[in-house]
Amino acid sequence: MKRLHISFTLLVCCQWPLSLCAQENFSQATTTLAASCAACHGPHGNSMGGTPALAGLNKDYFIQRMQGFKSGAIPATVMHQHARGLTDEEISTLASYFSAQQRRTPVTAPMQSFRGAQ
Ligand code: HEC
Repeated sequence: MKRLHISFTLLVCCQWPLSLCAQENFSQATTTLAASCAACHGPHGNSMGGTPALAGLNKDYFIQRMQGFKSGAIPATVMHQHARGLTDEEISTLASYFSAQQRRTPVTAPMQSFRGAQ
């Protein structure tokens, strides 16, 4: 398990160097807000597990999904709570942020399910 943990850390550090993250155009408030999504959706929206990846999602689709979670129209396990805590403006800004992130498929991943999902 320790080895897996180390390779996971290396993977995250090597695959997403800051210079490639297209963060420059976004305010600190936006990147901080987006970072709160990383626990489940991965670094810059590149999910490492079964949670849907957000990187590179179409902006309109992102907003539609978030508004659906917020109103309860779209069934969800946890996203209702997250969406309800965001204003329409924050959702729109996050949509721009995640649509601008490059979708990455890591070459190695510690989780088999991750490989299968891509
Ligand atoms: C606790 C884990 C968790 C966190 C934190 C979280 N999400 Fe999610 N997200 C999920 C899960 C799980 C789903 C699948 C729908 C569901 O079951 O709620 C999802 C689905 C989504 C979707 C729909 C993706 C698609 O392709 O349909 C969007 C958009 C999204 N999340 C955005 C966000 C944003 C933006 C944040 C941060 C503000 C965030 N999520 C934080 C777990 C999380």
